[in-house]
Amino acid sequence: MSAFKATAIAHPNIAFIKYWGNRDENLRIPANGSISMNLAGLFTRTSVTFSPELNTDALVLNGKPADPAALRRVSRFLDFIRGFAKTGWHAEVVSENNFPIGTGLASSAAAFAALSQAATAALGLTLTEQELSRIARLGSGSACRSIPEGFVEWQAGTCHEDSFAFSIAPATHWDLVDCIAVVSSGHKSTGSTEGHSLANTSPLQPARVADAPRRLEKVRRAILEREFATFAEVVEQDSTIMHAVMMTSTPPLFYWQPVSLEIMQKVSQWRAEGIPCCYTLDAGPNVHVISMSSSAPEVTSRLNSIPGVKQVLQATPGGPAQLVEG
Ligand code: PMV
Repeated sequence: MSAFKATAIAHPNIAFIKYWGNRDENLRIPANGSISMNLAGLFTRTSVTFSPELNTDALVLNGKPADPAALRRVSRFLDFIRGFAKTGWHAEVVSENNFPIGTGLASSAAAFAALSQAATAALGLTLTEQELSRIARLGSGSACRSIPEGFVEWQAGTCHEDSFAFSIAPATHWDLVDCIAVVSSGHKSTGSTEGHSLANTSPLQPARVADAPRRLEKVRRAILEREFATFAEVVEQDSTIMHAVMMTSTPPLFYWQPVSLEIMQKVSQWRAEGIPCCYTLDAGPNVHVISMSSSAPEVTSRLNSIPGVKQVLQATPGGPAQLVEG
C-alpha cells in the first residue's frame, strides 16, 4: 500500500427507527435520532488514492466510470476531507459492492462509510470512531450508522460536533436475521437526499418527530433486553409512520408496491401465529423482514413462495467499517 492509498469495507444498515428529514440539510443534522443494525454479508469495498498528479477526482463504481452526478457528490464529500486534512490533492475512488445487481439495494450508507474510512486513512489522519461517524454523516446521513459495529444509535444532536452514531450492542448481542424480500420495482424512485428535503411539507412530520423519543426508548430497551414482541410492534409502527409522512409530502412519495403491502400483511399474520418476525421498509419497495435466527429459514421459505418476490437475501448483525489490505 502506497502512502496515499487505503482500502476499506463497510456494511449497509437497516434502520429500526428511521431517519427522515433534516434540521440542517447541508450538514445532514437529522430531525430525529435513529437506531439500526449493520448487515453482515453485504458490503461495499472502496479504495482511495490521493495524488498530486491528478487534475480532477475520478470515481469507478462496480467497474464502470460513475455518472457525473455521483462523481459530483463524491467530490463534494472529498472537499470536506481535503479541508480537514489541509490538502488540495485530488483522488481516484474505486468502489464495488457485492449486492446482487438489480435488487435496488445499492446503499449510500455502506458507500460513504467505506469512503470516509479509506479517504481519511489514505491521507494519514488518525480519527476516533466518533470523528469518523461525523464525517461519514456529511456524505449520507445513514452512513454515520455504518461506522460502529452491530446495533447502532445515531444521536440527532444540533450541530456537526454532537451528531454522530455509536454502538449500543455488539453484533453478537442478539441473533436476529434480516430476511430481505427483493420485489420487482416498477420505476426509479426519488432518492433519499431529495426525499429528506420534502419531509417538512407533510403535516404529519411534526407528530412523527415529536413521538420519536418514545419509539427510540422502546426499541433501544427491547434490543438491550432482547425482547422481540415490543421490538416488533414499534419497528413496524416506526416504518409505517415514516411512509405516512412520505405519502403525504408535496409531491407525495409512494415507495410501497402492491406486493410490499401483501408481504407486510402476511408478516403480521405469521407473527400472530407465533413466528417471531416483523417488517420494515426504507425508501423503496423491498421488505426487510426481521426475524429471530431460529425462524429465519421458515420466514425465508414463506417469502420465497409469494409471487412477485424475486429473491430473499439474509443478513445477520454486522461488524464496523474497517480498513483492509488492498
Ligand atoms: O442516509 P440517507 O440519506 O440515504 O437516508 C436514509 C433514509 C432511510 O433509509 C429511509 C431511513 C434510514 O434511517 O436509514
